[in-house]
Amino acid sequence: MSAIQSVSHETRVFNPSEEFKRQANISGMAAYKALCDEAERDFTGFWGRLANENLKFSKPFTQVLDETNAPFYKWFTGGELNVSANCLEKNIDAGLGDKVAIIFEADGGEVTKVTYKELLTRVNKLANGLKSLGVNKGDRVVIYMPMSIEGVAAMHACARIGAIHSVVFGGFSAKALQDRIVDTGAVAVITADQQVRGGKQLPLKTIVDEALSLGGCEAVKNVIVYKRTGADVGMQAGRDVYMHELAGKQSDQCAPVMVDSEHPLFILYTSGSTGKPKGVQHSSAGYLLWALLTMKWTFDLKPNDVFWCTADIGWVTGHSYITYGPLAAGATQIVFEGVPTFPNAGRFWDMIARHKATIFYTAPTAIRSLIKASEADEKVHPKSYDLSSLRLMGSVGEPINPEAWMWYYKNVGGERCPIVDTFWQTETGGHMITPLPGATPLVPGSCTLPLPGIMAAVVDETGGDLPNGQGGILVVKRPWPSMIRTIWGDPDRFKKSYFPEELGGKLYLAGDGAVRDKDNGNFTIMGRIDDVLNVSGHRMGTMEIESSLVANELVAEAAVVGRPDDLTGEAIVAFVVLKGDRPADDELRAKLANELKGWVGKDIGPIAKPKEIRFGDNLPKTRSGKIMRRLLRSLAKGEQITQDTSTLENPAILDQLGKAN
Ligand code: WT7
Repeated sequence: MSAIQSVSHETRVFNPSEEFKRQANISGMAAYKALCDEAERDFTGFWGRLANENLKFSKPFTQVLDETNAPFYKWFTGGELNVSANCLEKNIDAGLGDKVAIIFEADGGEVTKVTYKELLTRVNKLANGLKSLGVNKGDRVVIYMPMSIEGVAAMHACARIGAIHSVVFGGFSAKALQDRIVDTGAVAVITADQQVRGGKQLPLKTIVDEALSLGGCEAVKNVIVYKRTGADVGMQAGRDVYMHELAGKQSDQCAPVMVDSEHPLFILYTSGSTGKPKGVQHSSAGYLLWALLTMKWTFDLKPNDVFWCTADIGWVTGHSYITYGPLAAGATQIVFEGVPTFPNAGRFWDMIARHKATIFYTAPTAIRSLIKASEADEKVHPKSYDLSSLRLMGSVGEPINPEAWMWYYKNVGGERCPIVDTFWQTETGGHMITPLPGATPLVPGSCTLPLPGIMAAVVDETGGDLPNGQGGILVVKRPWPSMIRTIWGDPDRFKKSYFPEELGGKLYLAGDGAVRDKDNGNFTIMGRIDDVLNVSGHRMGTMEIESSLVANELVAEAAVVGRPDDLTGEAIVAFVVLKGDRPADDELRAKLANELKGWVGKDIGPIAKPKEIRFGDNLPKTRSGKIMRRLLRSLAKGEQITQDTSTLENPAILDQLGKAN
């Protein structure tokens, strides 16, 4: 937290330039405040107006917000629409058919462009292909795809026929994929033969085969395979079909299936503090409204912009700010297959220059790694590229430290481009607390103020309001259209996790700590208050990693904590007790640690690999047997233990665990 705490001493303020302000969709603080006031004054009138102005319903809604079964809120009830048609036909009908929708750049540099019309044709053919396989409205389809036009098209094909997609990030393991296939009860999986990242070909289809062989996936009738590399992956007769063969023979017309406003658009899994990952269920109308509106508000989108969000479609950022938001807004956007460091660490800057990107949205972890790389090699420094096309930049996924913010502002944005530090979550569907680039004074390290209609607040453990200047629990006091609807198959867990009784049962609990400054009420996020880690902007539950470790036959017990890391924000440190004796030999311990890291990588995915594993004869526990995690957190940081250890059963263990292996 040290890097984060320094934020609160930040005094630099960057006001929007007159030039930016003049052309902005929301211009000046008065315009922002007017929208906030409208939402305060007439909450449902505000949201109803925005929905009618921005979405195309085939049947108008009769009620804006139904709170009768709170916290299972319903928005725009009685309305019907199709999300994909709101992205494709809506824009084609408005004359954007020949506008480039996606500029796709492959890992190796090949560029493919598709217009809105061409994208609709692809989506229609694939949607017809899904229908021909018997996929129906409400069925779940798991998508395990590389970054590609086909990945985006697969999501839209599902939305088009009312099927519910669940995208699984291509870095997750067979076991993690199987868990999600089982939990959703998916009837089909859409994947690729392989993915290509950083010049390497990596498996996808063989991982799907492995996942399906792990059992419980009997509902899966078909696997649709996009041929990315042409690798020989073995197709199971009757089950597996190549995407081009399936879609190739279909009509290019496919009438969109109109669904209820509340019809689930997708399920996306994310880590919680306990148990297995949660299937976050999102709606159709409310979700799309916010994905689209935040494109206009936060990203100040204009017809000539070239928008680039570097996230993967496997995360919510890719859902809202690649697949749905930009397309609903009729934008031209870049979709990138590869990694920021291939063929060298100048790839992002090179791509911005070549495609004349105007809006660039990435994660602090990427920025920090590129700072390091460009300090080591001038050639990949942003100043070696023409980045003059940029007019706005964004940050997402974790707190951005003021040093990284300043570097991004100076070296990438040329001190000309505002930075929107967007705080939000898988559960919120879209931005929650963020500057508006033509209005909000920017403070490095602060996500500043809630968007109009988002009633964010900082409260104490009982749900009572805290004054500005006092840190506490981040909550949202009123529902908003793009909020999580439930946890797939587990409504009780939804209620307990997000609307806990301790806070009165009515406040949405984000799971983060926050503080507002005394002068302007600007929010600074202080990190998670639960057992969730944020590694390179990816959410990991400590329990998930612990369960994985104890599933190894050598491990008796494990406790996982986070430690601040200059590059990845937080790093995973695991404390492990073996079933056998703790090896006295350094080399043997190092070998075991590597083995266990590999185990977790294989079990969950490489992003879950602990950075460090320490072995102990025991873990620090209270006399009642509770592991004292706060002590482990101090030990992982290399801090002197100053806390009270009198309740500890076995204080001597701290010496052993305090040393790196
Ligand atoms: C958690 C949500 C937001 C989409 C990608 C991650 C942290 C996210 C910020 C930010 C400080 C941030 C929070 C949040 N977080 N954005 N701008 N400043 N912290 O979505 O995987 O659901 O993670 O990421 O801790 O709760 P996610």
